[in-house]
Amino acid sequence: MVGILYESEEWSSYKLLEEIQSFGIEACLISLEEDHAFELVNSCDLLVSRIFASAQFRAHHKSLERMPEVIKQAERKGIPILNPPRAHFYETSKALSTAILKQKGIAVPDVYGVFLPDEIDPGSLRYPCIIKPDCGGRTTCTVIISEAGTLAGAVAEIPAISMIAEEYIRPVYGYITRVEVIGGECRLILKRSVTADGLLAYHLGSAYTHYTDCPEKLRQTAVRAMELLNIEFGSLDIIETERDFYIIDVNAVSNASEDNTEMFGFDLMGETAAYIAERFREMEKRNDDDKRNI
Ligand SMILES: Nc1ncnc2c1ncn2[C@@H]1O[C@H](COP(=O)(O)OP(=O)(O)O)[C@@H](O)[C@H]1O
Ligand SMILES: [Mg+2]
Repeated sequence: MVGILYESEEWSSYKLLEEIQSFGIEACLISLEEDHAFELVNSCDLLVSRIFASAQFRAHHKSLERMPEVIKQAERKGIPILNPPRAHFYETSKALSTAILKQKGIAVPDVYGVFLPDEIDPGSLRYPCIIKPDCGGRTTCTVIISEAGTLAGAVAEIPAISMIAEEYIRPVYGYITRVEVIGGECRLILKRSVTADGLLAYHLGSAYTHYTDCPEKLRQTAVRAMELLNIEFGSLDIIETERDFYIIDVNAVSNASEDNTEMFGFDLMGETAAYIAERFREMEKRNDDDKRNI
């Protein structure tokens, strides 16, 4: 049985479930908002995490709080998790994933610190900078601060959650690159246009197009970054400049809006399910071989 750990009632986790089942594999959804989640976990042979960092904006704190406990329980019982457990901690902390990439020599924005909104000292930042939730998603509570004087006004609107302040990389070409990586391969690369506020969000009208002539070096770096972070399937947001390209965001739980499947002829949930099914079959085979050898 494959158990999909989820918290968000949106189409994608249901689609992933159906797609895994279409390979003739038994699968179920396990809501980490529900108290009996821990029991259900025990009946699984493989877990798949669909616990988004953005859970915190859906008041799904329980899921985020329970995940480390679920990981420990799965480890005790020898139940593997996809993505591997470490990836969950990268999904839920931009500071952590950015620090690891920097340490490994991959270009990322300079990070000025992680603070509560009312604790940010304007003198500790360089401008322009960007402030965004350390554990967040979908461009929620994300602001560009052009100068020290506008900081107080901007953070006044933000709830008391941990924020990362970092160098603002100007998307000089007007787009941000989104790379979907599955099993060590770049499977979909898009240019997503930046909207008038200098940010990017599908719901604010960003236009997406295929990035057919994406530089090879960027592809290789995307794959290497995912390997370093133990993310077998997920996505990256990258900003290219004249000088270099910078990884600004890494997602260990990737998502696409439903209409994107048709638009780009790429079924993200279907392809992710195919990868999970393959990994599940390998696991079963290994277990059978082990039994035979006993
Ligand atoms: N360092 C940065 N420089 C420029 N723009 C940024 C930077 N970090 C984030 N952004 C903008 O904010 C958006 C949301 O930030 P991101 O880190 O991708 O978080 P999430 O997708 O989890 O909300 C990005 O798509 C981009 O438009
Ligand atoms: Mg992003």
